[in-house]
Amino acid sequence: MEARSEIPDVYRYIKAVYSHISLLVSRFSFLASPHYLCLMINLRLAADYLKHRLTSKTRHGVHSPFAYHLVDKVIYDFHAKPDYFTIEELRTELLTDARTINITDLGAGSHVNNNKQKQVRTLAKNALKPARLAQLIHRLAVNANPGNIIELGTCLGITTAYLATAAPDAQVISIEGCPETAAIAEDNLSRLGIKNTGLLVGNFDQVLPGVVEMLPKLDFVFIDGNHRKQATLDYFHWCLPKLSDNSIMIFDDIYWSRGMKEAWEEIKAHPEVTVTIDLFWIGLVFVRKGQAKEDFRIKF
Ligand SMILES: C[S@@+](CC[C@H](N)C(=O)[O-])C[C@H]1O[C@@H](n2cnc3c(N)ncnc32)[C@H](O)[C@@H]1O
Repeated sequence: MEARSEIPDVYRYIKAVYSHISLLVSRFSFLASPHYLCLMINLRLAADYLKHRLTSKTRHGVHSPFAYHLVDKVIYDFHAKPDYFTIEELRTELLTDARTINITDLGAGSHVNNNKQKQVRTLAKNALKPARLAQLIHRLAVNANPGNIIELGTCLGITTAYLATAAPDAQVISIEGCPETAAIAEDNLSRLGIKNTGLLVGNFDQVLPGVVEMLPKLDFVFIDGNHRKQATLDYFHWCLPKLSDNSIMIFDDIYWSRGMKEAWEEIKAHPEVTVTIDLFWIGLVFVRKGQAKEDFRIKF
């Protein structure tokens, strides 16, 4: 009799332990994303990440009104937006897409998988900005209210879609060097009903100078491909003369390699750059005249 009455207690105990473990697993499930996997297999990157976590600030450590607004109202605005759902539905589909395509890799390759033939689902898993970052880029574009957007690195069109829906009246020019990847991006954008994008297929090095020349000014530039020091600095220097007080340039993977770290330091130190915000995964650059030169490291 006594033994029987203990069974529910044992059961409740096991259930409680199980639910604690599930909660812990779900809390740390972000560690399974390619970004964090990368951190774990790359000790240098992990050390940089740790250093960034220890030295970066939240909104409370930011006194510049311009930067405070950006951190408080844009970077830390984690509320779901209607545009997120359809784009994330498409991502979910791509994550199970078994089509194999030939990859033309004009960039610095990947930390994860450098095969020449890849399944779409592998690309979707390893090459795309995770939702949290892609949605931040969307919010930054909403906040910038740009007339034009340049994206280097379309891949499957996920961030292109986030940019296009953030600024439906903007002209979004996205450049991709791999023709087979670009064809899937084109299809994805049309499936989402997006009409304000122009996809250019070619090497950034050849295509970007013509695009910069064609536009009177650049409002929003997102560099998400070819993570080499010199290429990154070239893209920055080509765009710089067309940036204005309201422009924003975003560099992806500023800690990806020693070369990328050096490129980021050079960009920060450029006399025309007044404000930078280092979010570890990406870096934001502003050339606002009359603004005190300041470099922020913000937790994200
Ligand atoms: C990280 S992926 C872009 C991901 C995409 N922005 C997203 O998150 O949805 C980088 C892309 O840039 C392209 N790329 C890299 N270097 C390039 C170059 N020099 N010229 C043209 N495309 C390049 C690659 O083919 C790849 O598709």
